[in-house]
Amino acid sequence: MPRLRTSGFFPWPAFGSAARLQEFAAGHPSNLKEIDMAKAASASTQPFLSDIKTLRARARKHIENGAVTDGYQADRAVVVKLLNEALATELVCILRYKRHFFMASGINADAVAQEFLQHATEEQGHADLIATRIVQLKGEPNFSPEGLAMRSHAEYVEGDSLIDMIREDLVAERVAIESYGEMIRYIGDRDITTRRMLEGILAMEEEHADDLSSLLEDLGR
Ligand SMILES: [Fe+2]
Ligand SMILES: [Fe+2]
Repeated sequence: MPRLRTSGFFPWPAFGSAARLQEFAAGHPSNLKEIDMAKAASASTQPFLSDIKTLRARARKHIENGAVTDGYQADRAVVVKLLNEALATELVCILRYKRHFFMASGINADAVAQEFLQHATEEQGHADLIATRIVQLKGEPNFSPEGLAMRSHAEYVEGDSLIDMIREDLVAERVAIESYGEMIRYIGDRDITTRRMLEGILAMEEEHADDLSSLLEDLGR
């Protein structure tokens, strides 16, 4: 079913009644010609995009802002701040997974350590993506070790045993899943590139949580 909009940016026909709206949504309008005419009339008054001249003029303005155009709809300062918190979270997760990788010991240690290492590498990839996006948004990525643990959503917990380590990593992944979900919902349609990046990262954090949960099951906990 098409996404229905009765006003605004897209040239959907001006629906006169709820019944007409329902007919259109059902894909069986009772009077196609009438609807086509309404569509055509609406299209002539509601352009699909800004006209070319306006688009070109807007792109030339503030060229120093690079990828950030006048059409950028989010609050850039807020998005950069959120991304820096996400960056801190990823950096703390890299450090925690690295510690766990080197400290894993016991009969099941090898396979679990490899999982920790893989997660550390993937968190590094997330950190790089986030830092790149911060720079594109004309912000500065905060890599300072000072206050890193405070900026991070997830905690750095060393854990005494292999099981403790896996549990702590699972908790941290669940924190990341919650915070990425909140960021995605906050950004909505206002910064699609950032949202898509965060959606990709979120999907991987969910995989990480699932991996850790399976490890706990395999180890009988
Ligand atoms: Fe991550
Ligand atoms: Fe993760």
